[in-house]
Amino acid sequence: MKGIILAGGLGTRLYPVTKIIPKALLPIYDKPMIYYPLSTFMSMGIKDILIIAMQKDIKLFKSVLGDGSNIGISIKYEIEYEPKGIANAFIIGEEFIGSDNVSLILVDNIFYGDKIYDIFSNALLKNETATVFGYEVNDPERFGVAEFDNDMNVLSIEEKPLKPKSNYAVVGLYFYDNSVVNIAKSLKPSKRGELEITDVNKIYLKNKKLKVTLIDESNTWFDTGTHKSFVETTVFVKDIEEKSGVKFGCIEEIAYRKNYINKEQLINIANNIKNEYGDYLLNIVSEEI
Ligand code: DAU
Repeated sequence: MKGIILAGGLGTRLYPVTKIIPKALLPIYDKPMIYYPLSTFMSMGIKDILIIAMQKDIKLFKSVLGDGSNIGISIKYEIEYEPKGIANAFIIGEEFIGSDNVSLILVDNIFYGDKIYDIFSNALLKNETATVFGYEVNDPERFGVAEFDNDMNVLSIEEKPLKPKSNYAVVGLYFYDNSVVNIAKSLKPSKRGELEITDVNKIYLKNKKLKVTLIDESNTWFDTGTHKSFVETTVFVKDIEEKSGVKFGCIEEIAYRKNYINKEQLINIANNIKNEYGDYLLNIVSEEI
């Protein structure tokens, strides 16, 4: 399974903050936003990753993450010349996807929880065609919304409905088989002029090939697309890191714990970060001795 992180878009919702720096590189507490979705992929074992970003931003992403080799993964980049909608990621990423299955994560989607990676990894193992995830929210009209019958079979999926048929938002993490590329190519732009990810999911649903896995409330999901959610997520990360003493979304730690890199490589990374973050990485190694 390959992974695409969609980090394009104009970021106009967060102007003027995002005039120069893309949203994905703004800090959520102690690391750039993109660390979190990247850590979600890495925790699931997805190591072959494409980042899609606006042309003006690609250089910045490369200077932050490079080709991923220092954390034992592969990162490639593609340009989104124009924001044409989330489903356009599969058209931009066609060559990268090749004949593989693919997972897409929206860069502003952050997941936290003890069991969250078990939920994702199990769904990944079971995924045959398409899997999306539902999370109960108070403001479903802001999201893609899934409606279920009594046996939790999906009846419908709608994008930002005025009258949501349930409180289950479809979060921004998706698993698809290779046919998603052709499905994306077959889409027509929606009324707001975008190739909608919800339209991709509707096609899988119509073909009875869409699975929805629920993320229960012991886990937390943030869509950090607004100033308010930026602050809320930052405070959340600060609190849990202080309480647990464990960093969340720390790609270097995950790389080490998953054996993507060895002790020497982690020490090398840590020695180049001369602050509390670097000390934290060095501690991981010293605690084991
Ligand atoms: O967060 C989950 C929700 O994400 C889903 O429930 C919705 O079904 C889905 O449409 C999406 O809704 P948003 O309103 O949050 O999408 P937004 O336009 O904010 O785009 C999400 C991210 O994708 C954002 O970081 C920018 C990036 N993006 C978006 C578009 C439309 C691109 O890189 N290119 C694009 O063309």
